[in-house]
Amino acid sequence: MPAFSASAPGKTILFGEHAVVYGYPAIAVPLTNISMKIIVQPLLDNEKIHIVNVNLGENLFIEELEAENIYSYALETIMQSLKLNRLPPMQLTISSTIPVAAGLGSSAAFAVAITRAISGFLGFKLKAEELNQIAYAIEKKQHGTPSGIDNTVVCYQKPIYFKKNLPPFFLKLGKPLTLVLANSGIDSLTKEVVIDIKKKHDDDPLFIDHQFARIGNITDEAKICLEVGKLQGIGKLMLENHRCLKKMGLSLELLDDLVNAAIEAGAYGAKLCGGGRGGNVVALVPPDKSQAVLQAMLEAGAASCMVSLIKC
Ligand code: PMV
Repeated sequence: MPAFSASAPGKTILFGEHAVVYGYPAIAVPLTNISMKIIVQPLLDNEKIHIVNVNLGENLFIEELEAENIYSYALETIMQSLKLNRLPPMQLTISSTIPVAAGLGSSAAFAVAITRAISGFLGFKLKAEELNQIAYAIEKKQHGTPSGIDNTVVCYQKPIYFKKNLPPFFLKLGKPLTLVLANSGIDSLTKEVVIDIKKKHDDDPLFIDHQFARIGNITDEAKICLEVGKLQGIGKLMLENHRCLKKMGLSLELLDDLVNAAIEAGAYGAKLCGGGRGGNVVALVPPDKSQAVLQAMLEAGAASCMVSLIKC
């Protein structure tokens, strides 16, 4: 069996995070300037499965890991889905430019890339839908109750309008989007934040449902603006979405500062993206203002920033 290499991009959520877990729509786009790559090579002198994670400095044999470990779980899920009794000895080398615990799709990229890599190595030609289902099963292990938006946008690598348990609607953008992503440098575990929002929802369903309904409307309006390329409208809606997330306690002073800095430097709009309480702020900017916005967000306290172009 020859070596096989597969990759998957990062992503950002432009509208609807958290509300999407409760059945409201959300919009996400792939970030193709960051990605995770997994190379699978046959192991001829060993009967084991060897995992090398270049970024995390991990050097492991799968046989020595607990069944609960994400690598064991991912391989077990892939094996079951492909109806295999065992996997051949192999080495998986994982490398990534997607920041971890920052809301940019690192765990979804892992789920998609490992499914692509192992199925491809073994000669399976999975349809995108089949691959997405396996990646979703792996995501459930990492996230608890994921909506499925992350693995779907990463798997299809296209802008999507998404509702839980429905096939994605592929958005045709009226104009390309220039995004500036500012990493707060504060790690946040989406799984924990989602559990906390569930508690808030149990305690005060009227308030949280009101925010979700508002976010749902914002997302539907944003879909139209994205399709016709109304960039100022999209920006305004991003700010409104940010305000709703803030009301639910998902923002931080630094995230608000980054949003404000982006607006003052000329962004159309900005909001926290993903789970919140850390991670990234995404700003939509006129292309000629991208460097000014990036600089302003760094000065406002971002640990790092990048520009990402979303083509039509
Ligand atoms: O993985 P993150 O941090 O980008 O967040 C995913 C978005 C949530 O709506 C918070 C969770 C989900 O499963 O949709």
